[in-house]
Order: sequence, then C-alpha cells, then structure tokens
Amino acid sequence: SSLSPTVLVIFGAAGDLAWRKIAPALYSLSAEGWLPEKFAIIGVDRKEMTKEEFIGHLRSGVESFCRRKLDEASWSTFAASLSQYHSGDLTHPDTFEVLAKAIGDFRQQWGGAANPVFYLATSPTLIEAIATGLGKAGLGRNIPGSRIVVEKPFGRDLASAQALNRSLAEVFAEKQIFRIDHYLGKETVQNILALRFGNAWFEPIWDRRYIDSVQITVAETIGVEQRGGYYEHAGALRDMVQNHLFQLLCIVAMEPPVSFEAEEVRNKKTDVLHAIRPFPTEAVHRLAVRGQYGAGWVHGQHVPAYRSEPDVSPDSKMESFVALKVFVDNWRWQDVPFYLRTGKRMAQRVSQIVINLRPVPHQAFPEIAVDQWHPNRMILHIQPKESILLNFQAKRPGPTIRLTPVDLHFSYPDAFKTESPEAYETLLRDVILGDGTLFMRADQVEAAWSLVDPILQVWESNPPTDFPNYSAGSWGPEAAQVLIARDGKSWFEGPEDGE
Ligand code: BG6
Repeated sequence: SSLSPTVLVIFGAAGDLAWRKIAPALYSLSAEGWLPEKFAIIGVDRKEMTKEEFIGHLRSGVESFCRRKLDEASWSTFAASLSQYHSGDLTHPDTFEVLAKAIGDFRQQWGGAANPVFYLATSPTLIEAIATGLGKAGLGRNIPGSRIVVEKPFGRDLASAQALNRSLAEVFAEKQIFRIDHYLGKETVQNILALRFGNAWFEPIWDRRYIDSVQITVAETIGVEQRGGYYEHAGALRDMVQNHLFQLLCIVAMEPPVSFEAEEVRNKKTDVLHAIRPFPTEAVHRLAVRGQYGAGWVHGQHVPAYRSEPDVSPDSKMESFVALKVFVDNWRWQDVPFYLRTGKRMAQRVSQIVINLRPVPHQAFPEIAVDQWHPNRMILHIQPKESILLNFQAKRPGPTIRLTPVDLHFSYPDAFKTESPEAYETLLRDVILGDGTLFMRADQVEAAWSLVDPILQVWESNPPTDFPNYSAGSWGPEAAQVLIARDGKSWFEGPEDGE
C-alpha cells in the first residue's frame, strides 16, 4: 500500500481499551491489507510484562472481541508488527527517551521516514503529562508526520476542555491532534452524509418547510457496569450528549459541504453547534430532563438500581438519562424542534434518528378512509439495526379507498451482504492516513461544552429530589414524555419494521 511508514505507540497498552477495541481493530485492518507495509507497534504501560506476554494478551483480545475469527497466518503477519513493549511510568522522562530512540531506529531502518502516532489509551488525567513529555523529547510538531490520538472524555466542562486544548496545542499543531468520538466512525453514521449529499431525493425537503421535528435517540439496555467510578463524575450529559448526540445532530443539520476535505466538513458541523440556541438558566427546567434508573427488569432479568451499582454512592445525584429539546437558529432550521434523549437501562438498545415531515397541506381523503393518521417519516437506524426506512401512506387493496402506513426499507446487511467494519477500524485507518474528517476539532469540542455547561450548572446547584425516577427497562422518566407531549408530539418507539 502507499501508506507512509508508521510507528504506532500505544500508551496504556495493557489496559481495557487496547484489549477490547484497539487490538481487534488493528488485527482486522492488517488481515485486510489496510495497514502500511512498514508498520510497527510499540506498547507502553505501567504494568510489568514481557513482549511475549504482551503479544499473548493482545491475541486474547482479538480472540474475544474481533468481528473476524482469528486465523493463524493473518495473526502471525500482524504479530510481527508488535515490535516492542515497555513497562514504566507513562509520564517519566525515561519513557519518552526510550520512545524517541526507538522511533529514530525505525526511521533509519526504513530509510528515512517513520511517522509516529501516539495513541493515548489511558486515563484522561494523563493526557497533559504525556503530551508534555512527548514535546520535551522532540516528538511533537517538529516531526511533521507525528500525530496524537486522544479518547473521551475530553474535559469535563468548558474550562477544563480549553485547558486541555491549550496544553495539546503547545506540543502539536491542530492537524496533528485526533480527538476520537467513536460514533463518527460508525458506518451508519457516515451513511447519513451519503444519504443527504449523494442523492437528489432528500435534500430538497431537508429543512423547516417540510420537516416538522427531529428525534435522536441513543438508548442502551446496559447499566453503568464496572464504570461507576468514572460515571459518578460524568453522568449522561457529559458521557453521551456533549459528544455523540451533538455530533449526530450536526450531521443531520449541517449545510452541504463544498468538498469532503476535513476542514470543510468540520466547518459545516461547527456552524451547527454555533447555531444551537443556548440554554438560558431559567429555561433549563423546561428544555432539559434528567433521570436516574431504579431497579427493574431488562429482558426478563431483574437488575439493580444505579445507586446499588459498584462504586456508586447510595444517594448519588448523577443522571443516567437525559432528554433535551434543542433549536438550531439558522435559515434552514428555525423553529424546528430537535428532541434528543439517551439513557442507560432503557427498554431497548436502539440508536435512531427519526425525521418527521409536516402533514400534507390538505387532507382530501375522508377521515374514515385513513387507518392510522400520521405524517410521513424517515427513520435512520444506526444500531443495532442498520437500515433506513421511509414510512408513508398507501392504499390498502380493496374496492374502497383506505389508506394505511407502509414502509420502504433499505437494510445494510441485505443490500451489501457484508459486515460493516467496527468504528475503531475506520478511525484508526484515518489516523494513519492523517485524515481528520471524522475527528473532533478543538473548536467543536469547546462549542459543545459551552452548550452543556449552563445545564450542568443548573443541575449541580439544584440537586434532584426525585431520583431514582425511572425503572430499569423503561423508556425513562415521565418528565421526558411531558417534555415532548407539551408540543403535542410523542417519542417514536416502534412499530417493529419486520426486520
Ligand atoms: C461511550 C460511553 O462513549 O459510548 C458509554 O462512555 C456508552 O457509556 C458507549 O455505553 C456507547 O457506545 P456504543 O457504540 O455501544 O453505542
């Protein structure tokens, strides 16, 4: 392949992310021939391990989590790129000297070029110290092909995100910084761009004249699992809305880009964030709903309340559910409500975007001829279904006129008979290519934090008195129904579309 020679350094190489996501994604890329010919991986972690133990550890990650079955030939090709493992303090100067030397050696061995990519699969508290260490060792912006990859959470409010951006900017140019939002790597999320900007069908109606409202739901059935320690300092607004839901909103609402250059696409998305109507303190209670799950039933199993999860305080005030009503104040979207909701321990695992059209201007059919009256809608299923559905009225066969809603249905697996790559495969390949389109730029992250900051402040100064306010296995607190019912609408929760 024509990809530049690359040395991928994984900080936190013995950790959960490297094991579950990064190693399986790299193995898949390698098996499909998507990695550079000259490619080496260096693992760095506090944990003591030999290189052989490191390789065995990653192999077990691939065996447990990779979508493709491990085959020995592909594995040995991939394992050959696992070239070094260093255990030590991730922020000690020695660590960076070892890395500088190793990268220098590859540069020589490969005849001049070795782009270092530093993947921080570590606790976010280490980002600044690692970046500083890299800078001091001469591994930052002075190597043009050098890149740094950081995971969420990127800060916990506007001020901390700005501080983080400032310290990264001391060492790397913005083009060298890759902030991951793994939702952007999802095939179905990228397909929204293809749907909107690769077709003539949809864009003409994609505005306030034809669209009545938009719903974005990211519901999970899992609880907080073993991440109580993190989640107690985050909550659903920081964990999901500031990043994933706002990014989905941007993709639905953005103006058509002139090209698919990274800066052009990101500019158009940032414009949306800037157009979102800020949440004034006094309106937060009307526009934002928070919830926390109590005990309940999910898929026939009794599950504990959030407050009984490991590492969670028994009187925790942290939200595991958020619903928001958002307006995008621009020419295209003025007065079209976007309803967003996300939660853990919900009734179903489903991520979907529902585009509701306005009613027909004149209803010529008599009421009695219409089985079930609702305006047309389009559903973009992101997961677990990967499909797009257009729902419209059709005439039921028979001698009289009777209208009934039907679906036009596109399913990824049926259409392409192939499995979609994992988000991390797409994102890692883009990092190696140096393509930042699917990554968060500093100004986007900050714009998103400025929107959620006032909500966080109102919530923190007015602790909830009704938590837990929804049962595990339900669709969230009653207040979320009220939020949308006040506008004479309801959350879309089915019907099943026969998939
Ligand atoms: C992560 C959140 O960013 O996204 C998790 O931290 C959440 O809390 C996860 O479970 C959901 O991702 P996915 O890809 O399973 O929808």
